[in-house]
Amino acid sequence: TWTMANIVDETVTAVREKVGTKRVICGLSGGVDSAVAAALVQRAVGDQLTCVYVDHGLMREGESEQVERDYVAATGVDLHVVEAADRFLTQLKGVEDPEEKRKIIGREFIRVFEQAARDIVAQAGEEGTEVEFLVQGTLYPDVVESGGGEGTANIKSHHNVGGLPDDLQFSLIEPLRTLFKDEVRAVGEQLGLPAEIVWRQPFPGPGLGIRIVGAVDAERLAILRKADAIARAELTAAGLDRDVWQFPVVLLANVRSVGVQGDGRTYGHPIVLRPVSSEDAMTADWSRLPYDVVERISTRITNEVREVNRVVLDVTSKPPGTIEWE
Ligand code: XMP
Repeated sequence: TWTMANIVDETVTAVREKVGTKRVICGLSGGVDSAVAAALVQRAVGDQLTCVYVDHGLMREGESEQVERDYVAATGVDLHVVEAADRFLTQLKGVEDPEEKRKIIGREFIRVFEQAARDIVAQAGEEGTEVEFLVQGTLYPDVVESGGGEGTANIKSHHNVGGLPDDLQFSLIEPLRTLFKDEVRAVGEQLGLPAEIVWRQPFPGPGLGIRIVGAVDAERLAILRKADAIARAELTAAGLDRDVWQFPVVLLANVRSVGVQGDGRTYGHPIVLRPVSSEDAMTADWSRLPYDVVERISTRITNEVREVNRVVLDVTSKPPGTIEWE
């Protein structure tokens, strides 16, 4: 029978044969696909694999720790972390246009990743050689969608930030090519990965950088991170994580409205809650969250995040709205 254990065994054997004694790298984004792909390859070739985690400073609260601490504890994988928040924030300074933000983040990501590959080889004392293989978390639906053959870098350009630089000179290892998302999650559980990673909702590669409407800076990121953490915590507490496809929380940094908090007038920023249900992110409907959950999120955000004095709920389906605001 075709069990998850079989899938793991067969994949591990195939990867081992393909890689031989060569060196492999894998970018981790914090998402489930790259995490499961890396764990499979690690099981096959051990320390010939080095994972690279580029911390671009646009992650949500606790997510870098999930990769740097929990994922490493669960897998024992060799992890190369690049703290690049300053670099990304410097490049993003003053940039408001969403596509421009994406371009900058994607470009910087590839630069940092290429440097990391060189550093890994140098640290291993193997100057003059190159990393041969790159692991990618391509799933079956991506393969079908792009009509790609084995070994081609067939990644939707929009989705290639966060572990998937697609113009680098590597041979690809794609251990999830035959799997659907639910099977990837089952394999992840089989491999003992942390539940927070296995069950994580989709999150865009450019991260919180495209959830701040307006320019991105450290202060705005801190505000959004707090609000987002509250919304996620309340969704989890209500037991609704798996009912909601994705729950963007968006800071309208360019908008201010008048409020009254304590005994004073405030002039703060709105936070938008954008919970959606979807099958594949191509279309989506706004989630009918219970009003008491929405109320708790709203009350907590306005009480706990000083800069925010208004919380609004996005009730637009896709189309016409996209899931993200940028
Ligand atoms: P939209 O906002 O277009 O999003 O309805 C559809 C899905 O794609 C995700 N998304 C991205 N993922 N890089 C990514 O890796 C991006 O630039 C990007 N923009 C949107 C979004 O979160 C949703 O799952």
